[in-house]
Amino acid sequence: MDKKRVEIILTKLDDFKNPKPDLEQYCTPPGVAADFLNTVYLNENEKTDILDLGCGTGFLSIAAGLFGFNVRGVDIDYESLSIAEKNKKKAEEESGKELSVDFEQQDISELRETGKKYAVVMNPPFGIQERGKNLLFLEKGFNSGEHVYSLLHCPEDKRKDTEDYIKEFSARKGFEAKILRRYRFDLKNTMVFHQEDVKTITTNLYYFKSKK
Ligand SMILES: C[S@@+](CC[C@H](N)C(=O)[O-])C[C@H]1O[C@@H](n2cnc3c(N)ncnc32)[C@H](O)[C@@H]1O
Repeated sequence: MDKKRVEIILTKLDDFKNPKPDLEQYCTPPGVAADFLNTVYLNENEKTDILDLGCGTGFLSIAAGLFGFNVRGVDIDYESLSIAEKNKKKAEEESGKELSVDFEQQDISELRETGKKYAVVMNPPFGIQERGKNLLFLEKGFNSGEHVYSLLHCPEDKRKDTEDYIKEFSARKGFEAKILRRYRFDLKNTMVFHQEDVKTITTNLYYFKSKK
C-alpha cells in the first residue's frame, strides 16, 4: 500500500485515552509511523514477521499490517491493547483488507528469546521515568531479531553524546547502528515531560543490523 494512504488511515485511529506517565505512553504521529514502516517495507522481505515491542494503541503494528506484513504487537497495558484491537478493526474497514496483526499482553522485561526470527520495530519509552528502559527494549529487540528498527529520542543539545552512546551500546551487543532518518514532532499534553504542555522532540530512526 502507498505510504500516504497508510498515513491517512492512521489519522482515523484512536490515541491513548488515559496515557500513563510511568509507561511513557504517546502515539507515534501518523506521518512518522507511515514513513517508518515504509522504510522497513523497502528493506525487508514481505514474508518476514514483524515484532512490535511496546505496541501501545497499535500505530506501528497496524502500519506494518497495511504494508502486508504478519505482525505480533506486545504491550504491558491492557487498556492500550483494547484500543489497539478497535484500531485494527477500523483500519480493516478503511482499507478493505484483513490485517494479519495480533496483539498480546506482556511485560517486555519477561519477553524470552524468540530465536531471532523477527524484524523488530519499536518506539520505546524514552527511559525518563524509568532510567534505562529504552535500552532494555533495545536489548529485547536484539534477542528477537537480526534487524531492529527503533525510534530513539535524541535531544538536540546532547545529540553527539546520545548517538555515540547508542552506537557503543549496540556494538557491545553485536549490532551495527545506522541512522536512517531524523524526525521532529510535537508531543501534546504528554506526561513524559512535565514542565511544558507541548514539547517538540527530535528522534532518530535507527536500523540495527546483527554483525553475525
Ligand atoms: C512511546 S509509547 C509507543 C506506543 C506505540 N508503539 C506507538 O508507536 O504509537 C511506549 C509504549 O511502551 C509500552 N511499555 C512501557 N513499558 C512496558 C513494558 N515493561 N512492557 C511492555 N510494554 C511497555 C507503553 O505501554 C507504551 O504503549
